[in-house]
Amino acid sequence: MKLGKLLLSSVLLVGALNAEDVMQKSMTAMEQGMTKIQKGFLNNNLELIKEGSMLVKEGNALFSDKKVIKEYLPKDKKHMANVAANSSERIALDINVLELNLDKKAYMNAANAYSDMLNACSKCHAIVRQW
Ligand code: HEC
Repeated sequence: MKLGKLLLSSVLLVGALNAEDVMQKSMTAMEQGMTKIQKGFLNNNLELIKEGSMLVKEGNALFSDKKVIKEYLPKDKKHMANVAANSSERIALDINVLELNLDKKAYMNAANAYSDMLNACSKCHAIVRQW
């Protein structure tokens, strides 16, 4: 009985630690990616933009599951899990738009997709941080 409880609580703890890792990993990758994309646009460096967009894509994929996202919302914001998950979907779409426009050399449109992505970051952070 005691051992069972101990096991259960360690499983829960490991689960919580892993979940935290996923969020941190995701946010770090997206932050690095966004910085690269911004630098790429400012310096007219296509390679940097592409590297950045890969990072954002990877990071966003890690933190796109509604159930995972919900774990990180404050108690009184859990009901907004759908809205928060929409931000992640918006980022995925923006990345596609950005990459397609880069291929077409439509750089203004690509830059707009980057701006929209930044807004999507803030939209979820606003929920999480009660801004
Ligand atoms: C679906 C929700 C969601 C989206 C979308 C989102 N984030 Fe986050 N972000 C969080 C949560 C949750 C935290 C942790 C709580 C906090 O820092 O307030 C966080 C924290 C962060 C942090 C601080 C990490 C730390 O270790 O303290 C950075 C940097 C960050 N996000 C970058 C980004 C960037 C860049 C984007 C957009 C490309 C983005 N986030 C989009 C939910 C999101």
